[in-house]
Amino acid sequence: MIDFKQKIAEAISKNINLPEQDIYEYIEKPSDEKLGDFSFPCFKLAKELKKSPQMIAEDLKEKLVFEENFMQKIEVVSGYLNFYIDPQAFISTVLTEVAKQNENYGKSTIGNGKNIVIDYSAPNIAKPFHIGHLRSTVIGNAIYKIYKFLGYNCIGVNHLGDYGTQFGKLIEGYKRWGSEYKIEENPIDELTKIYVRINNLCKEDETVLEECRNNFKKLEDGDKECVELWTKFREVSLKEFQKVYDLLQVSFDSWNGEAFYSDKMQEVVDTLKEKQLLKKSEGAMVVDLSEKNMPPCIIEKTNGSTTYATRDLAAILYRARNYNFDKALYVTSYEQILHFKQIFEVAKYLNMDEKYANNLVHIPFGMIQLKNGKMSTREGNVIKLEDLLNEAISRVLNIINEKNSNLENKEEIAKKIGIGAVIFNDLYNSRIKDEIFDWDTMLNFNGETGPYMQYIYVRTKSLLEKASYVPSIEDVDFSKLLDEPSLKVIKIIYNFQDILMQAAEKYEPYILARYLISLAQSFSSFYNENKIITEEKEVQNARLYLTYSVSIILKIGSELLGIQMPDRM
Ligand code: ARG
Repeated sequence: MIDFKQKIAEAISKNINLPEQDIYEYIEKPSDEKLGDFSFPCFKLAKELKKSPQMIAEDLKEKLVFEENFMQKIEVVSGYLNFYIDPQAFISTVLTEVAKQNENYGKSTIGNGKNIVIDYSAPNIAKPFHIGHLRSTVIGNAIYKIYKFLGYNCIGVNHLGDYGTQFGKLIEGYKRWGSEYKIEENPIDELTKIYVRINNLCKEDETVLEECRNNFKKLEDGDKECVELWTKFREVSLKEFQKVYDLLQVSFDSWNGEAFYSDKMQEVVDTLKEKQLLKKSEGAMVVDLSEKNMPPCIIEKTNGSTTYATRDLAAILYRARNYNFDKALYVTSYEQILHFKQIFEVAKYLNMDEKYANNLVHIPFGMIQLKNGKMSTREGNVIKLEDLLNEAISRVLNIINEKNSNLENKEEIAKKIGIGAVIFNDLYNSRIKDEIFDWDTMLNFNGETGPYMQYIYVRTKSLLEKASYVPSIEDVDFSKLLDEPSLKVIKIIYNFQDILMQAAEKYEPYILARYLISLAQSFSSFYNENKIITEEKEVQNARLYLTYSVSIILKIGSELLGIQMPDRM
């Protein structure tokens, strides 16, 4: 595909003494179409060239030469060079590329040879997989897929919370009252009850809390009973979690959770000791971070047991050595910002090349607020993700039964729409924003929602079905798409890869989600203003081809977000 921006950068670089890459980055896409398709601000050169931006722009305008004739005109407006691409060149480059790439449209090899570790989802064993983990799972999965599409080698890690003092508590509770609960029947709910009960007891009785801490220490030391109980808790929990992953269609390359590092932490402790970074503080071993204006990072607790931070440090070492990562990403709520700042700081002292410590990235996101407030495991007042996803499906099924009850395969379709709605809702805003979870908003088929995007996709499908053919590109007359709504769709499709790059660079799937909505909306205007199935064969071919292109991009894009498209609805 012709990269117009690149061509402009090339032409400019022949006339001024600046690296082409810099120029490329200076080139903007004006938000107002009237100002052209691309524009180059000359202010950045004024100082160096000792000329006014306006003069530089006028000068350049005379000198620029483009070999292919895709440049319709260049205008100088208050220090900017505005470039107008010939609409037909836009159309031909986009549609030819679609014809060549089909479902690989937008794919890149830019990431080839680079390894990206993505740590996401990571629910905690013996606790419900709740809506708070939904975001990590959905955001992480989208980032994984986008990076992969751009050619990176991605390693998705589910760093399960399967270790830590809470297991000491759970073991203690189970030892005391295990037989009262029907663990086999309903594992997570029952274990949660035990957890809530023992937690309450701990609040009343300091000695029970001590017992719990000792249990965890015993677990770390390999005590048979503790290990057996832990294994059981882990197994039943994973089985439950899998139901959610199946619904979301999310999978991982590694399930190494916190416990995996239980025998890999000594090296961390030893290294920090050797470098004289470990200090005793109130009985615990900590790395002082006061110079970095942070509270100390606790490496070993008073009773010698390790911490969440120690396990994360061991995991960094492991990932550096085993995955040789170019970047290691961590997707969690913003509640853990400090935790990651601390461990990224301490990681600089581990025995590994410094490039690893310099390429650790925390990707924080906001909380999900339900209308009735926050959720917390300790109080036992939680919404389980599995229930929530099933509710989404049944709500959609109700809508289908009202509007189109004869639809074939409606269960399957309701699943794609219901789950898609939840995922889309989660990805539609910049991730750091808190998200309000509201059924009516996310299931609105006319809103900026997953169902709307799917609805437009289904429309493209049924149009193609109605025509019963996709024209071959040779039979498409590009000049039939010069009207405004068609051109608008073309230009959006042109931007697809750029959007993916931005979403990857900023770790922001919302950039893609919003893009897909704008594509769907502009297709809708195109469709409202243009008859697609018409007597005029040439017009029909061109419009059908555009419809086909939209259909492809919506499908690729939604899949990258982790959303399945139904073929009808
Ligand atoms: N299990 C943790 C939680 O639920 C998230 C783990 C994130 N990953 C990590 N390497 N610390 O809060």
